[in-house]
Amino acid sequence: MSKQTSTNRITTAVIRDMKKKNEKICMLTAYDYPTALIVDEAGIDVVLVGDSLGMVMLGYDSTLPVTIEEMIHHTKAVSRAVKHAMVVGDMPFMSYQVSPEHALYNAGRFLQEAGAQGVKLEGGREVAEITRRMTIAGIPVMAHLGLTPQSVHQFGGYKVQGKEEQAAKRIVEDAKILEEAGAFSIVLECVPAALAKTVTHSLTIPTIGIGAGVDCDGQVLVLHDMVGLFDKFIPKFVKTYAHLNVQMKEAVNQYIDEVKRGVYPEKKHSF
Ligand code: KIV
Repeated sequence: MSKQTSTNRITTAVIRDMKKKNEKICMLTAYDYPTALIVDEAGIDVVLVGDSLGMVMLGYDSTLPVTIEEMIHHTKAVSRAVKHAMVVGDMPFMSYQVSPEHALYNAGRFLQEAGAQGVKLEGGREVAEITRRMTIAGIPVMAHLGLTPQSVHQFGGYKVQGKEEQAAKRIVEDAKILEEAGAFSIVLECVPAALAKTVTHSLTIPTIGIGAGVDCDGQVLVLHDMVGLFDKFIPKFVKTYAHLNVQMKEAVNQYIDEVKRGVYPEKKHSF
């Protein structure tokens, strides 16, 4: 862990080294102070404040309505909790497409105002130039290829990407262009496992997969999916490690029952 900072923080250098050492990178989302404390204390490497918060926290039916102000607000809360992991803030729809200056300004807000150590943005060669400019400005960029949810309307739904030869070739090329532009890692979402393996082997920077098979250099999941808090839609790639939804409902039911029956509060809860 020689490349960690004096505060023992995971850095981009640590993330890159993990690929060299064949050490898997573990990333999870968090959107608030208590869950960020949990994932950081558990030893996660990267905490992503994903724009998926629009769906699992705010009840939108896609990530498109999420604003830069909402992302900054949630990233601030996560940054207050996380002491060890690298915090990456997800750039929401239209926060980096309008102009390079606007993109750079918004990316800077994640580091300057919200306490993140990097940003993630969706897209291939079309975001290479802003990736380069952010990197030059000292803003680490995590790229995101494959099923990029902000393009859901262009894709015509949440579908596996890169199944046809031409599309697969384009993803491999985009990954190399983004590496060359300075991205420190690349999320690969919903692409065939064989394609993810090819991309992973053709880069020196790590790939972090979600629905992209076991050969990526790391994995990411949405926290609310993997702990069973959000069960409106469970993608095929999600493994549910806990059923907090059920446990929370049981706790609430028991509370209602005890209040109604006058069993809670007991003497020990009273002054
Ligand atoms: O928004 C998000 O949580 C993400 C991950 C699923 C990679 O982009």
